[in-house]
Amino acid sequence: MIDFMSSRVEIDLVKLGKNVEVLLNLYGKKKIGIMGVTKGVCGTAEIAEVLVSKGIRILADSKIDNLRNMHDANIKAEYVLLKTPSLSEIDLVIKNADISFNTEIAVIRCLSAAAMKNELPHKIILMVDMGDLREGILPADLDRFIQDVLPLPGITIVGIGANFACLGGVKPTEAKMRTLSSLAEHIEEKFEIPLTYISGGNSANYNWFMATDDIGAINNLRIGEAIFLGCETLGRTKIPGLCTDVFTFVAEVIESKMKASLPDGEIGQNAFGDTPQFPDRGQIRRVILGVGCQDVLVSGLTPRIDIEILGSSSDHTIIDAKKTDLKVGDEVAFDLNYGALLSAMTSPYVDKKFIQSTANDSQAEQNVLIK
Ligand SMILES: Cc1ncc(COP(=O)(O)O)c(C=O)c1O
Repeated sequence: MIDFMSSRVEIDLVKLGKNVEVLLNLYGKKKIGIMGVTKGVCGTAEIAEVLVSKGIRILADSKIDNLRNMHDANIKAEYVLLKTPSLSEIDLVIKNADISFNTEIAVIRCLSAAAMKNELPHKIILMVDMGDLREGILPADLDRFIQDVLPLPGITIVGIGANFACLGGVKPTEAKMRTLSSLAEHIEEKFEIPLTYISGGNSANYNWFMATDDIGAINNLRIGEAIFLGCETLGRTKIPGLCTDVFTFVAEVIESKMKASLPDGEIGQNAFGDTPQFPDRGQIRRVILGVGCQDVLVSGLTPRIDIEILGSSSDHTIIDAKKTDLKVGDEVAFDLNYGALLSAMTSPYVDKKFIQSTANDSQAEQNVLIK
């Protein structure tokens, strides 16, 4: 069993709670509810607890394991599986998710059979592809799809949703939101089914939300990154009032030496099949941190002090220490982007440390942490 890890993610539960309050209040002003998306934090129970204690009623994750984790930790919420279930996990979905997102009739037929077998009625939200080209039923196929779903026992359609800025980077514009609203209104009228959730998107919907005078029928967003990192996701701009430093990645220096900036010898491929190139800066202080790609997506880290990441392998990250005097045993703090957050929170090699900041904690103190 691992009982000590030299790297960690520090999670400020006070700042996290503040972000949740600000976003619930903001979106609540136009009557938009929020599902808290926990996949970026591996369904960590301590984090889910803060989301729920601040007023989020629905937790959404793409992993059944994460949903089960939060449920087993006694977090009282409605649980949503955020992606269309695999046929191989149908029973688990019925037992662990109140609602699942769906796009395939073959899957919904199996969900229906499993719901009946287990006597556990199941709710579904149909995802519509509005151009981002990740998941979704094409709008033109939606009526036919719903006709096929309605007779299935044990299954209730409770909403429709669309995802934006995920694979294709497609923006949730006013026009896209109007189309989604019209689709929802059409479904409610034609099939006489009330849609509890008309879920317009994710953290990328912030600019649309702020600019629009009319949210139409949209009544829900699924928010992860804005809660955790404090930004919208079309341009990664900070959302006013949110903390962008809820999470801090901390790594320890394991070597610090003056060395050349250029490798010495004939160059072939490195550990990951790339042929690296480095700028010639003469002699520099090369500092090694004892973390690598097995711990975190290193390219998603931004140091909070003036140093530069030169490269990494599976377990080493090489830094140009510039004018700092980093030495063995020092700790260095980084901001994380979403990819880095996801990887660090998922890695078993990275400790998770929960902190509660007070108004007196200075930023300077958090930048370089010396043991
Ligand atoms: C279907 C779906 N909805 C919502 C989200 C949350 O997106 P974001 O973290 O940008 O708010 C994600 C991604 O995690 C997703 O896959």
